[in-house]
Amino acid sequence: MCGIVGYVGKNNAVLKLIKGLKNLEYRGYDSAGIAIYNKNIEVVKEKGRISHLEEEIPANLVGNVGIAHTRWATHGVPSKINAHPHLDNHKRFAVVHNGIIENYLEIKNFLEQKGYNFISDTDTEVIPVLLDYYYELHHDVLIAFQKMLKKIKGSYAILVLAFDLPNTILVAKNHSPMVIGLGYDGIYVASDIPAILEYTKDFYFLDDEESAVITDKIVFYNKDFEKIKKTSKKIDWEMDETSKNGYEDYMLKEIHEQPSALIQTLNGIICKDKPISFVNFKIDKKYLESLRQIYIVACGTAMHAGLVGKYAMENLVRIPVSVVVASEFRYQNPIIDNNTLCLFISQSGETADTIAAVKLAKKMGARTIAITNVFESSITREADDTIYTHAGFEIAVASTKAYISQVGIVVALALYMAETLNGLKYEALKTELMDLPKFMSDVISNENVYHKLALKMKDEEHLFYIGRGNDYNIALEGSLKLKEISYIHSEAYPAGELKHGPIALIDKGTYVVGIITDDKIALKTLSNLEEVKSRGANIILVTNQKLKEENVFIIPKISSILSPILAIIPLQLLAYFIAKEKGLDVDKPRNLAKSVTVE
Ligand code: AGP
Ligand code: GLU
Repeated sequence: MCGIVGYVGKNNAVLKLIKGLKNLEYRGYDSAGIAIYNKNIEVVKEKGRISHLEEEIPANLVGNVGIAHTRWATHGVPSKINAHPHLDNHKRFAVVHNGIIENYLEIKNFLEQKGYNFISDTDTEVIPVLLDYYYELHHDVLIAFQKMLKKIKGSYAILVLAFDLPNTILVAKNHSPMVIGLGYDGIYVASDIPAILEYTKDFYFLDDEESAVITDKIVFYNKDFEKIKKTSKKIDWEMDETSKNGYEDYMLKEIHEQPSALIQTLNGIICKDKPISFVNFKIDKKYLESLRQIYIVACGTAMHAGLVGKYAMENLVRIPVSVVVASEFRYQNPIIDNNTLCLFISQSGETADTIAAVKLAKKMGARTIAITNVFESSITREADDTIYTHAGFEIAVASTKAYISQVGIVVALALYMAETLNGLKYEALKTELMDLPKFMSDVISNENVYHKLALKMKDEEHLFYIGRGNDYNIALEGSLKLKEISYIHSEAYPAGELKHGPIALIDKGTYVVGIITDDKIALKTLSNLEEVKSRGANIILVTNQKLKEENVFIIPKISSILSPILAIIPLQLLAYFIAKEKGLDVDKPRNLAKSVTVE
């Protein structure tokens, strides 16, 4: 699920591969490895950081062909043995793999009965061993490769080096991304564009069940192993956005970039005194009138942005909206027909559950729209339409600026639908939305206040976040940020729900973060905060109201539809400074990966 890089060319593959892995390092991984073809297949792999792997690579390891991997363990603990590349018993094949081979146990049993040995706990190891099994039968690498692909089930992006096929990489993909780039000095292959963007701008995108053989040229195959032609696409992104630009971490940089990210997001969509419009994408009045419901499907932070979208759409458009976690959507028999609109939000555009949900919704007749930050990501090829968030590269695993941009898009979409359906102008809301970047900068410039608070809170073990309405949606995202990077257990609750159970956990000194940005329900949430205060809780309040409490952090006052864009910033900064004070790696939190390409 993490990173794959391969190279066939004129230069030393070792350097290219290590650089490619480093370009993907931010995504979170637990071990790394490399295989180079030079007379023999040489494998070096290590648990931990890529720098650790580098130290172990002998100076005399050189070769023009190689494959490399950073692993995010799904089957078997992070360890040197479980790290990729994996080899078969005869060292004929070296394999790196992203994804999960779902029928690996069945294959493993079969191969063990045939006398083959396994040394790792991974699902991946069945691939080289199965290749070897078929090679023994057919004496042909390509036939073995195709037979192996027919046998395995699940999600995979696979690269193979074969001893009997020098100067060649075999490639296959199913439900896990894989791109091939044409460089001036060779052919590159990777799980993600940024890995190899410094070497090429010319990309081929493999579709599910396609495979390829890379030498000094590329031969593509469809799922029936017939040769096919594919056309390459030019990608004109720049990598300069990927430096830390003087900040200590990417996360802090990305928090600071939020005002400019929102400007980019809304650029061309919202202009003063003009109806909202999206490039290459329209929803007409008749279609909106025919709509029975809207689904918003996503995971994690993107799902939290979806909740803010529901609040905006239900308030402005008055069409029922269900927000569903993508991993649940597929298995809950969703009620979908031609009068259903489904929105899918994914920063990476590669989240396996979200992509599977797009496919299902499409099959059931819904109109599907993807909202993503990554150009040409897999989701863009599945959905009927794509809206890009234009937040710029987001490198920290914990999402901040992409969330703000997702919220910007879903609110703009709600305004667009409302304008189209109701024939009204929402100038006040639009003006507020356009003014937000300035207010956001003001909140961010107060970061020292949150740093001081973090010093007091860094040793806490449990925290609560509460709010009502859209404030509850902010509480959910604030709580997730804290969990992800500080490893402090936290729960978000609708403020009125605490007394139905969780209040039993409130003890003397428990911190409870309240969010109050909506006049209509401010006093209600305040009463709930009083209830926990009476039971000894320490209250922290993020609000745009004039409230006399001790730890109050005031943010500018705006409509409750837009308030998440401001109110989340103190919570992001609080989580960031707590994690920093605990001495943690905020950009690469343990156990997490930037794009989750397995179910
Ligand atoms: C965000 O901080 C998380 N790392 C995570 O919840 C993320 O939002 C989720 O995995 C969805 O990712 P996506 O937006 O790339 O689909
Ligand atoms: N399922 C494989 C393993 O656990 C691949 C994990 C990955 O995608 O990094 O080794």
